[in-house]
Amino acid sequence: MTECAVADAKPLAPVPSHVPADRVVDFDIFNPPGIDDMGVHEAWIKLQQSTPYEVVWTPHNEGHWIAVRGKRVRAMYRDPAHFSSHIIWLPKSEGENYGLVPTRLDPPQHTPFREVLNKAIGITATKAMEPMVRSVAVRIIDALAPQGKCNFTDDYAKQFPVQVFLNLLDLPHEDAAEVKEWIDQMTRPDGSMSMEEVMANVFRYVDPIIEQRLKTPGTDLISIVINNDIDGRPMTRDEMRGLVSLLLVAGLDTVVNVLSFFMEFLARNPGHRRQLVENPALIRKGIEELFRRFPVVAEARMVKEDTECDGVEMKAGDMVCVPTLITGTDDRMNGCPMHVDFNRKGISHVTFGDGPHICAGQHFARLEAIVTLEEWLKRIPEFDIPAGEKISHKSGIVCTVERLPLVWTPRA
Ligand code: HEM
Repeated sequence: MTECAVADAKPLAPVPSHVPADRVVDFDIFNPPGIDDMGVHEAWIKLQQSTPYEVVWTPHNEGHWIAVRGKRVRAMYRDPAHFSSHIIWLPKSEGENYGLVPTRLDPPQHTPFREVLNKAIGITATKAMEPMVRSVAVRIIDALAPQGKCNFTDDYAKQFPVQVFLNLLDLPHEDAAEVKEWIDQMTRPDGSMSMEEVMANVFRYVDPIIEQRLKTPGTDLISIVINNDIDGRPMTRDEMRGLVSLLLVAGLDTVVNVLSFFMEFLARNPGHRRQLVENPALIRKGIEELFRRFPVVAEARMVKEDTECDGVEMKAGDMVCVPTLITGTDDRMNGCPMHVDFNRKGISHVTFGDGPHICAGQHFARLEAIVTLEEWLKRIPEFDIPAGEKISHKSGIVCTVERLPLVWTPRA
C-alpha cells in the first residue's frame, strides 16, 4: 500500500497494491477539479481527455475506480455478473447504507421488481399521465410569465417535478420541502446527515403511508406498486418501503436537475432556442440531443469477483464509478460531442443507464422535459441570464445547477 497525501478535510485513501501508479488520478467525484470555472460536464470530460486509459483510480472518497469512456460505462451497466448493483453509491461505506429495492439487486432477484416498476411507470402508464403533467406545467408557467424574471431552479425546476410526483403518489404538497431535503442529502451530501440518518428519516416517513395504502388502496402510484406479488408471494414490508422510497428519490431529484441544465443551455444559445420556438415539432426530436449533452448521474458498481478490465486487475469488493456524465459527450460515441444539434443522427448516450437497471422512469422523464419546453417556449420564447450572474454547478451522485436566474420581457 502507498500512502497518499491529505489534500483537504477528508483524508485520501491509501492506493491498494493492485492499482498501477499510472492509473491514479486526483479526482473527487463530488468536487471535480475545474468545476467552478468550466462547469460540471466539461470538468468530467477534462478527466476523460487527460488519460489514455478507459479506467483510472482515484484515492478520493475511500478510493475507487472510475470508468472514463462511454462504451466502457455502458459495458459495465450491461454486465451485472462482474459489476454488481449491490452497492451503487460512493463512498462505499455510505453506499452500504443505501438500501433501496430493487436498485441494489442483481438479476434474477431484480427481475420481478422491475416488472412491477414497468407496469407502474413504463411507457403505457406514462401516456395516461400526460394531461396531469401538462396542467401542472401550465399552471406554474402561467404564474411566472407576467413576472419577467425567476430563479428557474427554485421557481420551476424544484416545483414542477415535485408537484407532478406528489400528485402521482397522492401525497400532501406541504411535505415536499422536507422530503426533497432528505433526497438532496442522499445525492449531494454536505456532511450534515449520514446516509443512515437520511434513510431512517425516509423510512419513518413512508412506513405509515404504506400501512394506510394497504388498508385503503387508491389509484395512486404507491398503491399500484405495493399491491403486487413478487414471484407469487406478497411483498415484504422492507421491500415495499424500499420501492416507495426509490420512487421518491428517482422522481424528485433527477428531472429537477436535468431541466435546469437544459434551460441554462437555451438561455445561453438563442439560435438553438429560436429553432425550437419556430418549429415546436422539433422539441420531441431535439429532447434526445439535450439528454445526450446534459446527463446528470454518476453512480457506481461493486466488483463481484476478481476480474481483468482494460489491462488492470480489479479485486472483488472494489468500487467502480460508472458516470453517465462522460458517455454521450465522449468523442468516441458522438462526433463534435459538446455541440448541440437537434437534427443529429444516430445519437448514442447512456444518460438513463443501460442493462437490467436502465431507468424505469425514462419515458416519464422525457414527457416532463418535452411538456416543459413546449409550454415554456410558447409563453416565454425569449429569455436571458442577467448580465454578471455566475451560474455554478455541483457534482454528485446527481449533478445540479445551484441557481439559474432568468429574465425576459413579459408579453402585453
Ligand atoms: C432525466 C431524468 C432521469 C435520469 C437522468 C435518470 C437516470 C437514471 C439512471 C442512470 C438509472 C440507472 C441506475 C442504475 O443502474 O443503478 C435510473 C434508474 C431508475 N430510475 Fe431514473 N432517471 C430519471 C428520471 C426518473 C424518473 C422521473 C423516475 C420515476 C418516475 C425514475 C425512476 C427510476 C427507477 C425506479 C430506477 C431504478 C430501476 C431499476 O433499478 O431497475 N427515473 N435512472
